[in-house]
Amino acid sequence: MTETSGTGGTTGVNRTDDEVWIVGATGRVGRGVAGRLTARGLTVVPVGRSRERMAAAGAEAGLPADAKVVVADSAERIAQEVVRRHPRVVVNTMGDYATTAPVIARACMSGGGHYVDQANDVVAARGLLALHEEATRAGSTLVTGAGFGVLATEAVVLKLCEGRPAPHRVRVDSVASVAVEAGALGAALASGIVDALTAGGRRYADGELVRSRLGADPRRLTFPDGTSAKTAGVASGELVAARAAAEAPFVTATSSLAPTAPLLRAVVPLLGRLLSVPALRRLAVDRLGRVTVKAAPRPREHSWGHAVVEWADGTRREGWLRAGE
Ligand SMILES: NC(=O)c1ccc[n+]([C@@H]2O[C@H](COP(=O)([O-])OP(=O)(O)OC[C@H]3O[C@@H](n4cnc5c(N)ncnc54)[C@H](OP(=O)(O)O)[C@@H]3O)[C@@H](O)[C@H]2O)c1
Repeated sequence: MTETSGTGGTTGVNRTDDEVWIVGATGRVGRGVAGRLTARGLTVVPVGRSRERMAAAGAEAGLPADAKVVVADSAERIAQEVVRRHPRVVVNTMGDYATTAPVIARACMSGGGHYVDQANDVVAARGLLALHEEATRAGSTLVTGAGFGVLATEAVVLKLCEGRPAPHRVRVDSVASVAVEAGALGAALASGIVDALTAGGRRYADGELVRSRLGADPRRLTFPDGTSAKTAGVASGELVAARAAAEAPFVTATSSLAPTAPLLRAVVPLLGRLLSVPALRRLAVDRLGRVTVKAAPRPREHSWGHAVVEWADGTRREGWLRAGE
C-alpha cells in the first residue's frame, strides 16, 4: 500500500545517501530482506538491539565482517539515529507497527528519506496513510503493508476496477502458503497474534469502518489449480488497502490465518476481551513468544490473492493472483 510520494526537497541534508537500514535485521523477515537486498548490491545496514546478533545476521546476509550496524533498542532510539544520519530508506520489520511505524516514518521524513514496513493491521495501516500530506511535503515515500496479503489482494482489486467507476461492494481473500521456521515464535509475532484477537473483526459498511466478528463469514475457497483452503473475516491491512483502492462503500476481507473452526470462533470474542486486560496481554505475549514451533513445509504450492468486485448495476468481476511464498 504505497500512499505517499512527492517532490519536496532534501536540499542541505547530509544524508547517508545510499544506505538501506533494516530494523529487525536479526528476525525472520529482516534476515530475508537483508540477504536479498545485499545480493542486489545495495548498501544494507542492520539496525537492532544486539551488536552480536546483528553481526551474525549480517554474515548470513553476505555483509562483510566490518559492515556498519546501528545499535538501538526502541523505536524512539532508532528514530533518533535516523534523524541524525538520514539513511535513504528504512525497512521496519520490528513489529508492533501501530506504535513503531509513525515514530520511525516521521524520522525518515525529517530528511526526505523513505520508509517501508510489513504491517498488516487496521490501526497501523490507517496510521501510516494518515501521514500522506506530511510525507508529500517532505518528498518522502511511505509504504505500509509490504507483505504478501496487501500486495496480492490490492493488486487484484486495482486490476478489476481499472477504467471503471467506484464499485458498490468488494471482498478480498488472502491465502499465504508459508513454510514455518523452527524456533521460538518471538515477541513480534506473538504481539501481532494477541492484538488481532483483542481487536476483533472489522469491515466497511456504508463507507464506515465498523466492528464485526473475528472469523466472520467462514468459507472454503477453491483455487484455480483445484486446491482449496478455508478463510474467514479479519481486521487487516488488506481491508484498508481494498477500501482505499476501490473506494467501495462495502468492503470485507478474509484470511486463511483467521480462526475458521467452529469451537475456536465461539471462544475468540471472550479470549479477546480477556487479552485486552494489560497484565493478561503482557503475560500472553510473553508466553506465546516463547512457544517453540517445529519446522513445517509450505501447505500449498502457491499463495493466492483473490477479489470479487460488484457494481450497483449488477456487474460482477472476480480475479486471482498466484504467487510463490
Ligand atoms: N504483512 C506480512 O505479510 C507479514 C509477514 C511476516 C511477518 N509480519 C510481521 O512482521 C513482524 C516481524 O516478523 P518476524 O517473523 O520477522 O519477527 P521476529 O523474527 O521476531 O523479528 C523481530 C525483529 O525485530 C527486532 N526487535 C524487536 N523488538 C525490538 C526493539 N525494541 N528494538 C530493536 N529491535 C527490535 C528483533 O531483534 P532481536 O534479535 O533483538 O530480538 C528481531 O530482529 C511481525 O510483527 C510480524 O507479524 C508481517
